[in-house]
Amino acid sequence: MCNVPSGAEAYGSLYAASSSDGVLRLGNIVPDFTADTTHGPMKFHEWIDGSWAILFSHPADFTPVCTTEIGRLALKYDELKSKGVKLATLSCDPVESHTKWLDDVVAHCENKVTIDFPIIADPTREIAVKYGMIDPELKDKEGLPLTCRAVFIIGPDKKLKLSLNYPASVGRNMDEITRVIDALQLSAKYSVATPANWPNNHESIGKKGQAFLLPTVTPEDAKKYFPNHTSCLVPSGIDYLRLTPIENLSTK
Ligand code: BEZ
Repeated sequence: MCNVPSGAEAYGSLYAASSSDGVLRLGNIVPDFTADTTHGPMKFHEWIDGSWAILFSHPADFTPVCTTEIGRLALKYDELKSKGVKLATLSCDPVESHTKWLDDVVAHCENKVTIDFPIIADPTREIAVKYGMIDPELKDKEGLPLTCRAVFIIGPDKKLKLSLNYPASVGRNMDEITRVIDALQLSAKYSVATPANWPNNHESIGKKGQAFLLPTVTPEDAKKYFPNHTSCLVPSGIDYLRLTPIENLSTK
């Protein structure tokens, strides 16, 4: 059994659980809210219920990029569910609009998807303001601001683990969302961090998909708990690029 703290334990304590200035940051408990959704009323914290969760916003219904994003997300839904991740999306449009638009989303995905996750309505922008996802440059026909393409990944402790903000002009890559879920869940369990482009890293040295031991892992613990780790030699001579296979790691 391993007694070294996981990445989440080692670094999570650096972040404050609540925001002191109303700006939502990594490590903060995400704001709670109640809302109408395409699956009925939602109390957000109750809905999270100890799972990993994703809150995914789009600017507006009946717009082209958003239509492709919700369709592509639906194609990832079963995979997210299998990883223990709940998914909800949001825009400022009302539920009736979401429901009508979803027929288009499904049709544009060649009827190969069903939308099994709730789409939240936020016509008052109350949730968008709480989460800081308003794009002030983006307005609806009435001149009211809309949400940017935000992604909030929330841990079972209701703390914000990762966020992304894309402008309306750039659709998101759903493979990146499942990739960061895998990376977050790995680091929540083990004392490792994932390299750039993981799991497509270090293939040229025969160590594809391996992860780095956290700098906080002592050389003794590295030997004891990560017996298959190897170090990359660098000119400084400092032993910090310690790669470990991620299969068969032990947890506490
Ligand atoms: C879109 O989804 O295509 C979109 C939405 C709002 C502004 C610009 C583009």
